[in-house]
Amino acid sequence: MLSVLFLVLFVNLRLAYGLDSGHDPEINMTTIQMAQWWGYKEANIVYAQTEDGYLLEMHHIPYGRNGK
Ligand SMILES: *[C@@H]1O[C@H](CO)[C@@H](O)[C@H](O)[C@H]1NC(C)=O
Repeated sequence: MLSVLFLVLFVNLRLAYGLDSGHDPEINMTTIQMAQWWGYKEANIVYAQTEDGYLLEMHHIPYGRNGK
């Protein structure tokens, strides 16, 4: 009985958080799109080149979810 309860809880959690493969809305999103999906209105890409030639892509989220 207890194991059935845990199974139901587990399935409900998976559905609630969209973890089933193919149902995760974030699966094809870019990092910037994910930030916006989670309520961060502004998210920017910043590029930097290191002295030895590597190109770094950084994601800057300047404000919290409520814009502060
Ligand atoms: C993600 O992209 C793949 C390949 O283009 C596509 O088959 C799949 O349906 C997409 N999944 C979602 C949730 O958009």
